[in-house]
Amino acid sequence: MKADSTFQSDVSLSALARIRHDVQGMHAYAVQDATGLLKLDAMENSHRLPPQLRAELGRRLGEVAINRYPGPSVDALKAALHAYAAPPEGWSLMLGNGSDELISLLAMACDIPGASIVAPVPGFVMYAMSAQLQGLAFHGVPLSADFELNEAAMLAAIAQHRPAIVYLAYPNNPTANLWDAGAIERIIDAQGAQGGLVVMDEAYQPFAAASWIDRARAEPARHAHVLIMRTLSKFGLAGVRLGYLLGDARLIGELDKVRPPYNVSVLNAECALFALEHESVFAAQAQDIRAARAALLEALAQTPGVRAYPSEGNMILVRVLGQGTHDEGAAARVFEGMKTRGVLVKNVSKMHPSLANCLRLTVGTADENARQLAALQASL
Ligand SMILES: Cc1ncc(COP(=O)(O)O)c(C=O)c1O
Repeated sequence: MKADSTFQSDVSLSALARIRHDVQGMHAYAVQDATGLLKLDAMENSHRLPPQLRAELGRRLGEVAINRYPGPSVDALKAALHAYAAPPEGWSLMLGNGSDELISLLAMACDIPGASIVAPVPGFVMYAMSAQLQGLAFHGVPLSADFELNEAAMLAAIAQHRPAIVYLAYPNNPTANLWDAGAIERIIDAQGAQGGLVVMDEAYQPFAAASWIDRARAEPARHAHVLIMRTLSKFGLAGVRLGYLLGDARLIGELDKVRPPYNVSVLNAECALFALEHESVFAAQAQDIRAARAALLEALAQTPGVRAYPSEGNMILVRVLGQGTHDEGAAARVFEGMKTRGVLVKNVSKMHPSLANCLRLTVGTADENARQLAALQASL
């Protein structure tokens, strides 16, 4: 028996060597343990469905033919999302198991030798990770000190690297701001002129004052190489895993070929269809979160010892001022203090040098935000 298990562990150890060395050197995507804590670390929508709708959804899901591969309900969902997003004429969409999957599929589809990806940093980690995993170069272009696009540096990176893809998160994570539209237009034009794609990542669109889709509708020719990526995660379905990518039908047709055939389950599709049928419930939740965000921003502005940055998402980036620039552990202390008081946020201090001593708060309900604020103030 003992000899058997030794043999087995030797076999699996030698098999480990078959896994890429760079993968073995990576850290897994970190999901914090939120057991027993108020979970405000991942920009989830704190609102649940009203009990009556939950019961209705349960009945709907009970009727789904889970013995069959996904089919008509996925097509129905695509049609419903198309109607909901109302993209320009001639655009279509593809679905992803969350926009995370779409980001991976984009890297896979554009994996031509020498291809690269450009994105502002700090930004959403999956842009760089998808590039690394697919073997593409990633060029991060630092934002300015107040987290605005460095337009000259972005244009220089486009000229130098001629990237396959430029990602622009609108609004950005973790800085939560909407970048200057003029700068974005010029980046879109430059990327189009060298024959690359731009992905406008609108994960936080339900909470933002603007969507790039209005500009795409107004000037479709200028946006022929622009894709708009959305997700239902922040809308209120983070557990369902549903992202969608909108763009010129010819582009989407090619990108869709690398998608695993049944990447969206019948349960995901049915849940998302149900949510779109009750879109007004989710719109009211988003409105509530926007109002709660305004109140939280105001309270943070009155809180000595922190600087809160403007937000167009359901998150707020906060810098802990601590004892001055050499107090490198100030945010870590506040993070731990908040956790001790039962509130889990995200310490993003180590993500990028410009985020030194920064925490990212998720905007929850008014009650949750009151608890979050009290925990923050008590931990300063
Ligand atoms: C900017 C941005 N894009 C995409 C995603 C991924 O969303 P999904 O849950 O659809 O995979 C996130 C998640 O936090 C995000 O912040």
